[in-house]
Amino acid sequence: MKVLVTGGLGFIGSHTVVELAKSNFEVIIADNLYNAKEEVLEKIEKITGKKFKLYKYDLCDKEKVEEIFRDNNIDAVIHFAGYKAVGESVKKPLMYYSNNLITAINILEVMEKFNVRKFIFSSSATVYGDNGHTKYVESMGRGKTTNPYGTTKAMIEKILEDLYASDNSWNITILRYFNPVGAHESGLIGEEPNGIPNNLMPYIMKVASGKLEKLNIFGNDYPTVDGTGVRDFIHVVDLAKGHVKALEKAPNGLNIYNLGSGKGVSVLELVNTFEKVNNIKINYQIVERRAGDLAEYYSDATKAYVELGWKTEKTVEDICRDSWNYEKNNKK
Ligand code: WQD
Repeated sequence: MKVLVTGGLGFIGSHTVVELAKSNFEVIIADNLYNAKEEVLEKIEKITGKKFKLYKYDLCDKEKVEEIFRDNNIDAVIHFAGYKAVGESVKKPLMYYSNNLITAINILEVMEKFNVRKFIFSSSATVYGDNGHTKYVESMGRGKTTNPYGTTKAMIEKILEDLYASDNSWNITILRYFNPVGAHESGLIGEEPNGIPNNLMPYIMKVASGKLEKLNIFGNDYPTVDGTGVRDFIHVVDLAKGHVKALEKAPNGLNIYNLGSGKGVSVLELVNTFEKVNNIKINYQIVERRAGDLAEYYSDATKAYVELGWKTEKTVEDICRDSWNYEKNNKK
């Protein structure tokens, strides 16, 4: 089966390409390198021992999307491509709405034209919004999103639902990620956020490597185990394997799955685990809460286990070890 992976040089995309290749899928990569480096391709090829066709195209250009489908007999698409920084999306909403929606619609329209119907969408737990629950299950549906990035994910999910309702020859799988972290055990690929990291784990990496002085922990007065925020951190390799399972096992129709560990871990618990596993002290200070943050949420991952035979295998210790291994191997 030939799979087009859009955003295939990005953090989650690159790890998914590795797992697809290991499962003997033929992979085509499209990436405009807005949030990825071309050197990631040679690292993926080193890990897998395979070569991959790369289209360095902006998928907002529909002609370019058609060219990819004309060049290759694509059987399925895994769609990662899209801007994904929450803070940036608040500052630049039009950039997020135009890029994320146009790329998704272009892909779907060209798939329709070339009669390709198997589509896996990279969505996010952020679509649940603040629904008053801490454990999210797929049947809860979407809530009120709190930033344009999250809203584009919710909008694309709605587009997919309407598309399927109009033509149920589509085979659509929506995967809602919780907090992707970690790196491939080789230390060759991992998370490379542009500039100062917004997310917790990449920030801890920069403090651990001395590039940033200390971690600001946004609030310790939440109603949680130790007052700090609680999240469902999922190792990116487990997440990548979830996409392979979705490709192999998702039932026909439109199906939605949480991809998470099913467990909540607090910010302080993650920091303490990182320090213990890597024998490194992380300087931090408690500061005020970050606007928009929720106290606690994590996944109910039962549906993915029952229907796809998938669950996380990596531990928080694996996450901390693999993240630091990547950081050490990629000192910039
Ligand atoms: C996690 C916890 C912070 C940084 C976001 C997006 C979500 C998804 C994952 C794309 C919170 C605390 C963080 C720091 C801190 N992205 N924190 N100091 O906000 O749960 O989710 O990234 O799909 O859509 O919303 O992730 O890593 O930013 O925060 O104390 O410097 O760490 O308050 O409790 P978040 P995060």
